[in-house]
Amino acid sequence: MAVRNTLKRSRALRVIPEALMGREAPRAKPVHMHLEHTTRCDHVCSTCIRAHRIDGEEDMPVEEAKGYIDSIGPSFLSLNGIGEPLMHPEWDRIARHALDAHGARVGMATTGTHFRAQADRLVQSGVGLVKVSFHGAKPRTFSRLASGRQLEVVEDGIAALHEARMRHGRGPSVRMNYVVSEQSFKEIPDAVSVAARTGMDAVYFKGALQHKGRNSGIAAEHDIEELSAAVGAGARLAEEHNVRTNLDHWVREIRRVGKVPPSERPVPPGRCMIPWLSVFIRVDGSVLPCCNCTWHPDEGTMGRIEDGDFESVWRGQPFKELRAEMTAGTYSLTICQDCPDPVTTAQVGEMAMNRLWPGFLA
Ligand SMILES: C[S@@+](CC[C@H](N)C(=O)[O-])C[C@H]1O[C@@H](n2cnc3c(N)ncnc32)[C@H](O)[C@@H]1O
Ligand code: SF4
Ligand code: SF4
Repeated sequence: MAVRNTLKRSRALRVIPEALMGREAPRAKPVHMHLEHTTRCDHVCSTCIRAHRIDGEEDMPVEEAKGYIDSIGPSFLSLNGIGEPLMHPEWDRIARHALDAHGARVGMATTGTHFRAQADRLVQSGVGLVKVSFHGAKPRTFSRLASGRQLEVVEDGIAALHEARMRHGRGPSVRMNYVVSEQSFKEIPDAVSVAARTGMDAVYFKGALQHKGRNSGIAAEHDIEELSAAVGAGARLAEEHNVRTNLDHWVREIRRVGKVPPSERPVPPGRCMIPWLSVFIRVDGSVLPCCNCTWHPDEGTMGRIEDGDFESVWRGQPFKELRAEMTAGTYSLTICQDCPDPVTTAQVGEMAMNRLWPGFLA
């Protein structure tokens, strides 16, 4: 195990210089993978691509999932796609394979509505990080934006998970993943209060992806003073309650865009390193460079894993072209042009300082 972990760490270290050099066909495989092991979901949240389009609902067979994991051998696995991870009947067998066969750290974003029923299973699965998704933090907004999901049910589920952790003396860390949209930004301080009240370690505030592009939603014309006030109040509360957040990133971003009209705002400086670090495997085996690409399902497919051959896709032409674009700062994918959070070196530095990584590296 010690040798394997050392090898893993050396791969993680090897991938960084390749990303910094902009190597189009990196020698190292990605350190992180998203696996869309299910597209089933019992919700249709208004912010989600499912509110616009549902292509089908299926569970990936466990043996197939294991094959994808083996072809990549990730250090980090996120069991996530457009679906609710805990609805796959054998999600824990997939998690266990990544842990046992590859020593990977496994995490997932989830609605939290299945925690009460699956708390012991979650703790026993070896999953290290659970991110509970919030689209608002007051009961009414929470239900309105998440198709009737109830805050009290999710809070009860989080309590059940804590109880299971106590019973077993181990278990995942629990964090809130808060989607910041035009409808939810005023509740940033409430999100911190909910996290403190329910014993969550941290809140990661994620800018909402928008179907209508960069100049819509939170990125568009809105009262910058109101946004600053919400972020400031949230940061103060977080300090008071000792809840880790990435709100300092929001403070810097607000300062950067200032009062510049949306159409004149520059894209964030620096190259996004995601196409070197991470990969997203869809339920049908097709490969996307980034989880955000699920928001534009008709573009960005890099190929498909056939007979366990991931490397041909990873070093294939579509990926090479995408990496060349990233290096040149010319993003052709709509989702990259609209991206609220490209993973630049500056951002990686911030994350390291906060010890609060986005889904792809936690
Ligand atoms: C697609 S969901 C899949 C996991 C699970 N069904 C859930 O909701 O937690 C993955 C993450 O995307 C988040 N999400 C939903 N709408 C979003 C948006 N417009 N922009 C960014 N993230 C969003 C969800 O809150 C969740 O944390
Ligand atoms: S955000 Fe998650 S829970 Fe909501 S519809 Fe999308 S996949 Fe389902
Ligand atoms: S720019 Fe954004 S959407 Fe594009 S690869 Fe990077 S994180 Fe993903």
